[in-house]
Amino acid sequence: KEKAFIFDLDGVIVDTAKYHFLAWRNLANSLGFEFTEAHNELLKGVSRVESLEILLKIGNVELTDDEKQTLLVKKNTEYLQYVNKMTADEILPGINELLNFLDQNTIKYALGSASKNAPLILEKVGLLNRFTAIVDGNDVSKAKPDPEVFLIGAQKLNTKPEDCIVVEDAIAGVEAANAANMLSIGIGDAEVLKEADYILSNTTGFTKDFIQKILN
Ligand code: BG6
Ligand code: MG
Repeated sequence: KEKAFIFDLDGVIVDTAKYHFLAWRNLANSLGFEFTEAHNELLKGVSRVESLEILLKIGNVELTDDEKQTLLVKKNTEYLQYVNKMTADEILPGINELLNFLDQNTIKYALGSASKNAPLILEKVGLLNRFTAIVDGNDVSKAKPDPEVFLIGAQKLNTKPEDCIVVEDAIAGVEAANAANMLSIGIGDAEVLKEADYILSNTTGFTKDFIQKILN
């Protein structure tokens, strides 16, 4: 059976999760409350708009739609300052090797990201032309944990959902993959990602043995 991969971007291909965290934390601090790494887990994989809603709830802050819009722009402007400095050095360890392996074995792969900045980030790290398909925050109407982003990815790969393997670092992303009836590989804390079919503590876990195992 032909298998295909769908990769999340932030926290899987590149460690932009840390930049999202910095920008959200600064925003929270400017609104007068603390924002921790544990809080940040709740935002991983979640759309920008939904992330702000969660953050405001944490801080118990109520704002008008206009004020929210201003904060979304502010957050993204700071985030893009980090993104614009990115280079290929920020591709997470093991990912280049994994993509090379997939290319050599003619296994297709797509991007399935909630980020509207995904094309820019891929361009910055030199991966924009590697994916058979790119599905990002500009293409979906329902955010993870809704499976839409991955189902569109499967369609673009011309692969059945049950033959897709999703790589995710976020709870919402693992849930989306499971809801799409795809195999889910969680990257990160096994406690946090316990719903994933397989869990690797980081991207160096993509050994040839592991890849062979999940392909069979
Ligand atoms: C996801 C990140 O990939 O993209 C989230 O995990 C982020 O933290 C979301 O909020 C949206 O990203 P962007 O770049 O469109 O603000
Ligand atoms: Mg992610």
